[in-house]
Amino acid sequence: MDAFRIVGGHPLRGTVKVSGSKNAALPILFSSLLGGNFTLRNVPCLRDVQTTLSLLKQLGVATESLGEKKPSPSKGKHLPAGQGQEWTGLFSISDQGGAEYEAPYDLVRTMRASVLCLGPLLARKRRARVSLPGGCLIGARPIDIHLKSFEKMGARITIHHGYIDAETKGLKGSEIILPYPTVTGTENILMAAVLARGTTTIQNAAKEPEVIDLANFLLARGAKIKGAGTSSITIEGVTDLHDTEYAIMFDRIEAGTFLVGAALLGDRVRIEGVDPSRITSILRVLLNMGAEPIMEGDTITLGAIANPVGTSLRTLPYPGFPTDMQAQILPLMAISKGASSVIETVFENRFTHVMEMNRMGADIEIHGSQAIVRGGSRLEGATVMASDLRASAGLVLAGLVAEGETEIKRVYHIDRGYEAIEKKLESLGARIKRIQEDLP
Ligand code: UD1
Repeated sequence: MDAFRIVGGHPLRGTVKVSGSKNAALPILFSSLLGGNFTLRNVPCLRDVQTTLSLLKQLGVATESLGEKKPSPSKGKHLPAGQGQEWTGLFSISDQGGAEYEAPYDLVRTMRASVLCLGPLLARKRRARVSLPGGCLIGARPIDIHLKSFEKMGARITIHHGYIDAETKGLKGSEIILPYPTVTGTENILMAAVLARGTTTIQNAAKEPEVIDLANFLLARGAKIKGAGTSSITIEGVTDLHDTEYAIMFDRIEAGTFLVGAALLGDRVRIEGVDPSRITSILRVLLNMGAEPIMEGDTITLGAIANPVGTSLRTLPYPGFPTDMQAQILPLMAISKGASSVIETVFENRFTHVMEMNRMGADIEIHGSQAIVRGGSRLEGATVMASDLRASAGLVLAGLVAEGETEIKRVYHIDRGYEAIEKKLESLGARIKRIQEDLP
């Protein structure tokens, strides 16, 4: 198993380009199950993208990597699937019109977002069999809202032997009121509604930019969608979709992770390929802590905060502060002056990284859904264990600012959602290496 070895305290300097968004790429790739062909640009080289391509292949979608090949930024010995091979981010995708409709446990268990195949499969093939995703470390994460919405649209759903079986004689447009603005739930219903008979409205819809990206992509294919990015989306069903070429939006969370890295250790870091208006909640927190970002076009330049001060935040659905940035902001709070507070409102168990950060010298107490950070700590390198994707990124940032050597075990989590993060950080001057963990 791979691990990262980091020698902390080295300044970050230079330019880094943000990759395509994982959370936009996955639903757009799954929408291929609605039929037809298209070309995608800016597809990030991630383990979750590989998992999605494998699942799509099983479901009868052909995907082909196109374009002039250039070496992956992650060429090397111990690399996750996909990295180290040639990667252009350009794909041609075409549904072969087969009858396959099952997403098996082996793939779904490695990536919860596999449930995104339910909506388009039901809409196009009128049938879907998808393994229940099961629990995960950051909380129960049920998909009851997805399932109830499909029932409202005319699907019959049963659950047997750990599988969801869904079928319909044809989805019909409906008014769906979400009890919570679930992101993948909104995307799943949106994809189903695009080919449903009549008009669907989604009330209390998720407003995340990745939902807008999916809607813009579907609009480019001829879907009829209004209101994406607001809490009320209206979709008028169409009979089929046409070809298009589309570039996936930038990854907000990767951009935010580099921003925190720059705030910790930047000797001028220029982050390219971002739309600052999509990350205002992250920028606002950094400004409160003393950062002085310079925004120019699609770049943000930031240096280390000379005397960072603590702040308070609450994770919330967009446009609030993203839960996916909660682990990464903690090391900055740990070294800041004064106390900070983080209230996690999206997932019930998303502080597993705190114990590991405390082992590195942070002083963070958890009280239910609140983390109280006593600032002014000097972090020290230690051997720590990554427990999930964003927790891993938080530990990498802690390791970069800590004194001495940090070893982060189980970094396969980070490969799910960050494209060659160690190579990008290394290019900025960080001392970070991917190593093969010693086996017991
Ligand atoms: C998506 C993102 C993930 C991010 C999260 C919140 C993708 C692929 N993943 O995950 O990175 O952390 O949004 O911004 O885009 N819930 C229910 N029932 C449901 C659905 C959700 O109770 O049917 C609850 C969840 O348990 C959680 C909350 O709603 O507590 C938010 O979940 P949701 O917005 O659905 O997150 P995901 O779409 O899974």
